[in-house]
Amino acid sequence: MRIPTDVLALLSNRTRTDGHRLMLVGPRLAPALYQRVNEVLEAVGGRWTKTEGAHLFPVHAAEALAPVLATGEVVTLGEKRTLAQYFPTPEPVVDQLIALVTFEPGMTVLEPSAGSGAMATAAAARGAIVDCIERDPGYATVLSDTHAARRVQVADFLTVPAEPRFDRVLMNPPFTRGTDMAHVTHALRFLKPDGLLVSVMSWTVAEQTGSTTAFRKLVEQRGGLVEALPARAFAQSGTTIDTVLVTILATRPADARPTVWPARDIPAQDSEELGNPADIAAEIVADLRKAVAAFEEVAAALTKPAPTTAPGTVEAT
Ligand SMILES: C[S@@+](CC[C@H](N)C(=O)[O-])C[C@H]1O[C@@H](n2cnc3c(N)ncnc32)[C@H](O)[C@@H]1O
Repeated sequence: MRIPTDVLALLSNRTRTDGHRLMLVGPRLAPALYQRVNEVLEAVGGRWTKTEGAHLFPVHAAEALAPVLATGEVVTLGEKRTLAQYFPTPEPVVDQLIALVTFEPGMTVLEPSAGSGAMATAAAARGAIVDCIERDPGYATVLSDTHAARRVQVADFLTVPAEPRFDRVLMNPPFTRGTDMAHVTHALRFLKPDGLLVSVMSWTVAEQTGSTTAFRKLVEQRGGLVEALPARAFAQSGTTIDTVLVTILATRPADARPTVWPARDIPAQDSEELGNPADIAAEIVADLRKAVAAFEEVAAALTKPAPTTAPGTVEAT
């Protein structure tokens, strides 16, 4: 964000630094102005610390502030969150995810796209040895400081070569433009043959569309389980996107049942209420797309040769 000139002037002329501390000097600021100044200080690592009467920085405060003053620009925490897709998993969702997993002491767990390690921390508390991958060095540092993980690698997970050496993969990847499907597909390659992956994913995967077909097929082939998370499960993390929990085994179990995709609860509509024509048109288009996809599946099945049964054999029912 381009820093407004009044905030920039204040940061230049009315701050004093002393090592890791930064003090605002002069008359007390109006609350709204203080908030805008604080937003910039927090974005570069400052935290108001009452006992110090100052903003404390992990590095020298003057060093942290220098690029801001030189460029007049800063990436605010809000912007960073949206750019990085940092939406930490709230505790009730972590609990729900962890309940799907059995742990044995010494099991190896991977949390890719780990953020500050919501799942890593829960797994470590259950005796697992956890490795994490996180693209943002800032979040990776926060995670390292918790000492929950054996190793925190700063990297773009999608470029990390797969090694099938983990018993469990627990994850909540970024969702933008279907990246969650790419992340989960890649993460499956890190599982041992008897391993299990559980991921928070966007509700989008529960819907049959052109962009979800391949992923849904993969889940179905492995006998995956999908359950809807409560509405607004991530509200406290700053997003109201609908989500599901997807459980996939590295190897399809012999007793796998067909995957049941959750259906969205459609809120009851007041029959007197007329909908917006654009929304109605969009809904019709979406329904038509679903119908075409269903017809295409039937057509593909019909063009497959019929299975041949050797004489004398009886097909299992
Ligand atoms: C939705 S947050 C989840 C954080 C954490 N797993 C949790 O459950 O609280 C997604 C995290 O993925 C990180 N991320 C985004 N793209 C990534 C990538 N390509 N490789 C590794 N991490 C990535 C973001 O920085 C962010 O911390």
